[in-house]
Amino acid sequence: GKIRRFKWEVKYEFKSPDCFEKLVITVNGKFPGPTIKANQGDTIIVELKNSFLTENVAVHWHGIRQIRTPWFDGVEGVTQCPILPGEVFIYQFVVDRPGTYMYHSHYGMQRESGLTGMIRVSPPVTEPEPFTYDYDRNVFLTDWYHESMAEKATGLASIPFKWVGEPESLLIQGRGIFNCSNDLSTTQNIVPGVCNATNADCSRFVLTVIPGKTYRLRIGSLTSLSALSFQIEGHNLTVVEADGHYVEPFIVKNLFIYSGETYSVLLKADQNPSRNYWITTSIVSRPANTSQGTAVLNYYPNHPRRLPPTLESSILRPIWNDTRRRLAQSLAIKARGGFIHAPPKNSDKVIVLLNTQNEVNGYRRWSVNNVSYHHPKTPYLIALKQNLTDAFDWSFTPPENYDSLNYNISQVPPNANATTSDGIYRLRFGSTVDVILQNANTMNRDNSETHPWHLHGHDFWVLGYGVGKFNESEDPKRYNLINPIMKNTVAVQPFGWTALRFRADNPGVWSFHCHIESHFFMGMGIVFESGVDRVSNLPSSIMGCGQTKR
Ligand code: C2O
Ligand code: CU
Repeated sequence: GKIRRFKWEVKYEFKSPDCFEKLVITVNGKFPGPTIKANQGDTIIVELKNSFLTENVAVHWHGIRQIRTPWFDGVEGVTQCPILPGEVFIYQFVVDRPGTYMYHSHYGMQRESGLTGMIRVSPPVTEPEPFTYDYDRNVFLTDWYHESMAEKATGLASIPFKWVGEPESLLIQGRGIFNCSNDLSTTQNIVPGVCNATNADCSRFVLTVIPGKTYRLRIGSLTSLSALSFQIEGHNLTVVEADGHYVEPFIVKNLFIYSGETYSVLLKADQNPSRNYWITTSIVSRPANTSQGTAVLNYYPNHPRRLPPTLESSILRPIWNDTRRRLAQSLAIKARGGFIHAPPKNSDKVIVLLNTQNEVNGYRRWSVNNVSYHHPKTPYLIALKQNLTDAFDWSFTPPENYDSLNYNISQVPPNANATTSDGIYRLRFGSTVDVILQNANTMNRDNSETHPWHLHGHDFWVLGYGVGKFNESEDPKRYNLINPIMKNTVAVQPFGWTALRFRADNPGVWSFHCHIESHFFMGMGIVFESGVDRVSNLPSSIMGCGQTKR
């Protein structure tokens, strides 16, 4: 492969992605950051300069497995020390598989401030993709808050607890229009309903298409909180790729996409070419009143600024709590014939992870098997390699099946108290592991949320989904062992469970967590170690914090 070098400078700038001015993290002046384009087998070198005045940073390459480079996974506290203001850090890794991936900050809740972007890896010419298209375009989705990360994080970590709330707007390719007409707190109301309308940033994203052509849209979501429905007025979308794996094509009108997921869809510009169409995103799985995100599908040669003749409010958005419809899409995703990589028939270990909302010393937290995660000052990977036995709780034995038989998932936890730990799950290298993610009622009556779980360093097979409580003797009989899709992020629906299988065959220390930024911040994650003895000498650039020795 080729070597591709990038020089990135990361800093805060005043910008107005949704017409409202606030601090935004930019990469080389851009938000979202530049797309990394490469071919399978290429080596990516990113020389990252932290130009924040007062904040640390670390960048994760979401979906890239970091085979033989576990120290460049970019997770502060797990695989590296944070990069300090003024410092330069060099990430170097191989993109080993074609597909659509993303990158984002993995430091505190910094992702929501904008350090995000996409990675596009093409297959070698000798291995053509099983579908054709004329043009390849990114459609990168996020939600957007006006409060700063410091305000959000402080609220979550306070007594009384202050929830982050729903986002102010939804962005498509980093652009949106904040509906400030009901927001009396804003002082930027120059044109009624449009804040800061004179700002050059304030415009919708326009996707121009040539009539008759087919477009591959690489849709990625790095929302901080929201699950989204994505739709293009009057057009069908054919799903062909998910998280870097080809799927058996299926057609949707609304694509449901959770934070941390990517999809490629084919869009044929086959509608009346004399007008433009709305592209919209809307929030599902939470009763949010955030306005939908809008962009314009522009049929060439219509003027790109010409708005569609229809009202944007006429675009049908799915009912927010129609879980069954969302589950149906998840169930429709199968590995593509000819590209099936079947899972091992059996696993060596089954870990049931019960997701609950709890309290720890009066602080509101999320827990996994009654343990709320926090990471130590010394990153695990370094602690394990340098044998720093008091850097974290080495003696911790993770509860792999916390009271799963007796726990009532449909009621508010009778005893909300959980514990907190920085202990990890150690897996035998090469073993096959099943993980059952079991959802439950939150601290509020008749309420359960959707959690997209993301695994670092591996892809997993999605064996099945279910509503209610997982039944250890019956449900595994219905697993799809024939053509399950492989992914790196998967949703767990309210009051439901999701079963996945992976091979612990990538030496390193890997984070596994809910991709909702505030949930992870509140402890919704665990860490897997396997084969750390096979990891070669760590680069000294990842050290310098906690007990690490350079
Ligand atoms: Cu995209 Cu650990 O995250
Ligand atoms: Cu979550």
